[in-house]
Amino acid sequence: MKKIPFNDLSRIHRPIHEKVFTKFSSVVEQNRFVLNKEIGEFESLFSDFTHSKYTISCSSGTDALELILRALDIGDNDEVIIPTNSFIATALAVTRCGAKPIFVDNDEYYLINPVEVEKKITKKTKAIIAVNLYGQLADLKILKKISTQNSLHLIEDSAQSHGAANESITNNQSIAAAYSFYPGKNLGAWGDGGAVTTNNKKLYEKILLLRNWGSVKKYYHEELGFNSRLQPLQGVVLSEKIKKLKYWNILRNDIAEMYFKELADISSLALPKTKEGNYHVWHLFVIRVQNRETILKDFSKHKVEFGIHYPVPIHRQKAYSTHKQFNKNFKLADSYADQLLSLPIFPKMEKSEVKRVVSTIKNYI
Ligand SMILES: Cc1ncc(COP(=O)(O)O)c(C=O)c1O
Repeated sequence: MKKIPFNDLSRIHRPIHEKVFTKFSSVVEQNRFVLNKEIGEFESLFSDFTHSKYTISCSSGTDALELILRALDIGDNDEVIIPTNSFIATALAVTRCGAKPIFVDNDEYYLINPVEVEKKITKKTKAIIAVNLYGQLADLKILKKISTQNSLHLIEDSAQSHGAANESITNNQSIAAAYSFYPGKNLGAWGDGGAVTTNNKKLYEKILLLRNWGSVKKYYHEELGFNSRLQPLQGVVLSEKIKKLKYWNILRNDIAEMYFKELADISSLALPKTKEGNYHVWHLFVIRVQNRETILKDFSKHKVEFGIHYPVPIHRQKAYSTHKQFNKNFKLADSYADQLLSLPIFPKMEKSEVKRVVSTIKNYI
């Protein structure tokens, strides 16, 4: 029995190998190793793709978040509201700046719940990070309203949502968005990478400084920055891959549609929901099941790979054991954590593979 991978990147990488390697060799030949023209070209393509004025690439999505927070002067004694149902990097970026992440619950779409956000605003709150989790936008319109009313910054964690949109949102609602190019993301590098997008010139200029030791002119340092630059070869890969990103997101939608059609009748499964007006890019297709451990054994037996995003919400992670919200109860995040199950979804996944995932679930049920 052939394994069904959770994600098989080689299917989308094989067709571009040769082109990328040829370009790699010219970067190496010409010793263009730091913030080269390939990085500049990619940044400009990414600005077009995200309809942003500026893109500042950097080493990772975690750094992208930290760069935004630092550029907004968020630090000691400040609070930043984030969803507890996210990858821990959302919280770590806040902690690394010296500020405190304040956790809130998600809604039935697995997105930060604006009602819970409002309850957590204090005099110390400086920002809200809306995580566009699993591939769809959080409720940015409402979050923007809440941020404006309370003089807070709205930041997007778009690590999982390259290309996600909402039909009623034309302008960017947030001050800046952080993207990850971790290999398995909808747009992934061949290694780590990240970027900030923004329409705010001042913020753009400050982040340019911060990612390069606070310096524009070599050996003159205006800010306490750090080294967070996108590696030169990643510019080549990402520029090649971004040309196909819209198409790959369509392929992801096709697979999601198949899952919806095939699994609709199974009442014991909770299928994911798309918020009104959202264009979902299905970074992950997350269902909820009872008795997850048993079904996972069946998946393994039938060689179907799966993911769990995430088994432990951030407020229950040991790393935050000294946080005042450690182990507090968060109704949905806590009850969902034992039920979440991510099914394989990736561009070029075969229909027959989707069918096998479906039949594994149906057999089990
Ligand atoms: C929601 C979210 N935020 C932040 C990150 C951090 O990105 P990176 O791994 O590139 O640092 C990730 C990805 O791993 C993520 O999924």
